[in-house]
Amino acid sequence: MSKIQEFIPQMRPLFGTEERAELLAYLEEDGFFTEFKKTEAFEQQIAEYTGARHCIVVNNGTVSLTLAAIALGVGSGDEVLVPNYTMIATPNSVKMLGAQPVFVDVEPETLVMDVELAERAINPRTKAIMLVSANGRAPRVGIKAFEDLSRRTGIPLIEDAAQSLGSFYNDGRHIGRAGVIGSFSFSAPKIISTGQGGALITDDDALNDKLRRLKDFGRAAGGIDVHDTVGYNFKFTELQACVGLAQMRQLKNRVTRKKEIWKRYQQGLAKIQGIKLFEHDLELCSPWFIDCRVEDRDEIVNYLKRYGIGTRIMYPPINKQSAYNLSGNYPVSEEVGNNGLWLPSMIQLTNTQIDKICSHIRDFYNAK
Ligand SMILES: Cc1ncc(COP(=O)(O)O)c(C=O)c1O
Repeated sequence: MSKIQEFIPQMRPLFGTEERAELLAYLEEDGFFTEFKKTEAFEQQIAEYTGARHCIVVNNGTVSLTLAAIALGVGSGDEVLVPNYTMIATPNSVKMLGAQPVFVDVEPETLVMDVELAERAINPRTKAIMLVSANGRAPRVGIKAFEDLSRRTGIPLIEDAAQSLGSFYNDGRHIGRAGVIGSFSFSAPKIISTGQGGALITDDDALNDKLRRLKDFGRAAGGIDVHDTVGYNFKFTELQACVGLAQMRQLKNRVTRKKEIWKRYQQGLAKIQGIKLFEHDLELCSPWFIDCRVEDRDEIVNYLKRYGIGTRIMYPPINKQSAYNLSGNYPVSEEVGNNGLWLPSMIQLTNTQIDKICSHIRDFYNAK
């Protein structure tokens, strides 16, 4: 075989001529770079798309969660409920404040926090619930169960919707809108990216004001050095906003394509015993990554790698990560830690590539 085999990565961001044009046009007209009009326009677009009253952009989708927690009064010694299946940024975002993340297992179908287990984990030190919509999925029990829990206990709900731009609840609200604050990430693998970047959405005017001050040294207005509150520096840049504006124009098509990609995988792998895609309601959900449970995970990973196909192991249970190393009974996140796999999921995947991936997976499991 003399032909060089193409490599299909599990993911790769897609930036092109539109992003380049936005950046070049900006460079022609200004050189300030720090957040200003382009950033305001990007915030406006996220607010409009999600239906939120306010959007505040920050450096990334980790500090956005930290700022949300600070704005809601979480501090040292407080506890925050987080799912045991998530990207480690979720718990780390409150660890940064000296608060304690408390891990709660997830629903087996959606990998979203289990509401009954969450309720059992609540105690007088619990100051917030961070609900992660894993891969754009809503909780199977319905988001109302978490809103009710929050209302009954008075514990605010923060939505970590880092993976959920383009996904909606069945009452029509964008994911991230059920929490008092919702958080998004624009890191490289996300449905739209600014390289690094994060956004907070809220309908609450006072929280909007607090979050804006927190990200800008406590300033009440840009460039004024009078500080009646403590704040930090988590500001955005116009360069990121230029990229974000171009990416937002592509969001609708990307949502459509993500759904097509998932459907094609589902059709290609439907009859294979060894692999099961996690379900998505495509009416509402835009699958960010193609997530599945597989048998013989190490073997299939190596087999696909031999054919130039990249995959990524899904998150291990956080309690068992050395950074935390806590005991506890988390059967669902543990099982996903053993069997969960992400298949190539990038927006630029072609149907031919998906068919090739499915064909290799079929060959692998049929030969078993
Ligand atoms: C659920 C979740 N929360 C938070 C983050 C952190 O976002 P960022 O990488 O922008 O800091 C991520 C990133 O992948 C994520 O998936």
